[in-house]
Amino acid sequence: MKIAIVHDLELNDEEFKMVESVKNAISKKFKCELVPFDEKFINNVKNFDFVFNLSNKGGKETKQLHVPSILDKLGIPYTASNAYSHALCLDKITTKIIMNFHNIPTPLFMYFDIGEVPEVMDEGKVYIVKPPREGSARGITRESVVDNLEAMRKQVKKIHEEFKQPALVEEFIDGMEVSVGLLGNGEDLEVLPILEIDFSKLPEGLERFYSYEVKHNYGEQTNYVCPARISNEVKQKLEFYAKKLFKVLSLKDYARMDVRIRGNEVYFIEVNSLPQLVPVYSDITKMAKAAGYEYDDLILKILEHAIKRYEGGK
Ligand SMILES: Nc1ncnc2c1ncn2[C@@H]1O[C@H](COP(=O)(O)OP(=O)(O)O)[C@@H](O)[C@H]1O
Ligand SMILES: [Mg+2]
Repeated sequence: MKIAIVHDLELNDEEFKMVESVKNAISKKFKCELVPFDEKFINNVKNFDFVFNLSNKGGKETKQLHVPSILDKLGIPYTASNAYSHALCLDKITTKIIMNFHNIPTPLFMYFDIGEVPEVMDEGKVYIVKPPREGSARGITRESVVDNLEAMRKQVKKIHEEFKQPALVEEFIDGMEVSVGLLGNGEDLEVLPILEIDFSKLPEGLERFYSYEVKHNYGEQTNYVCPARISNEVKQKLEFYAKKLFKVLSLKDYARMDVRIRGNEVYFIEVNSLPQLVPVYSDITKMAKAAGYEYDDLILKILEHAIKRYEGGK
């Protein structure tokens, strides 16, 4: 079996490291080559039996939908979710509507289409205003958290203007942040040890959530604790809802979910259907390590789950 590791053309240092490391891991067991997602992609990829998909910059608005769609058309099997599931996760509002329908707890939210202005706000409540179709904390600053109508209006307008997207206004959950990683499918679906993201060691005055600033400039001072310091009751809730969500979104092979915890209640915030796999740095590799899987084990497990899924006809 010959495997193509499909990656975006433009890679930052971390992504470059990810692509090289995935190749290194797969070459332990299979023949493999790097294949960029460029204009020659359709022709190049036809020479392979299977794809390990790492492309999430396929288009301006629809990011990770392209490679899976093309591979489905060509009949070439690939790792991770298909375009349908990626689309459900690309828009946080869509994901939240699905969570609500399936009774998976998610913060209360409002939706403001481009041009719409918030008219009322519950006194004493705190909200976070976000662009629904971004990632990597783009559009999230300390000002995104609002406690009065004027500030909310300003942030909603900012999202409309800066991102040309509707604005998602969500109840701000002041509590612990965790990330839940899943690996496998169906009966073999496994929730990895839960990763706690502890912001308490950040410099005084800095926000205690993943703003763009914190995510990109304070990684070193963010404290990652795995397994998370949570009760057994909370852990069981997280595992139950994370598996349910994986299933209702028809996710495949691996995914990662952001969750906030307040008291004993868990609130699912978003789903990353194609989380990054940078050695050491990425959340999911930290979780795998706590489960006893070295980086190469994790990559080969993802691939083996995908192969097994196609053998099973799913
Ligand atoms: N409802 C919320 N309550 C508390 N913090 C939130 C909420 N929504 C987002 N955040 C904070 O903002 C960060 C980024 O938001 P998220 O929705 O995960 O967007 P992204 O796709 O950019 O990761 C989260 O990791 C969390 O720290
Ligand atoms: Mg997130």
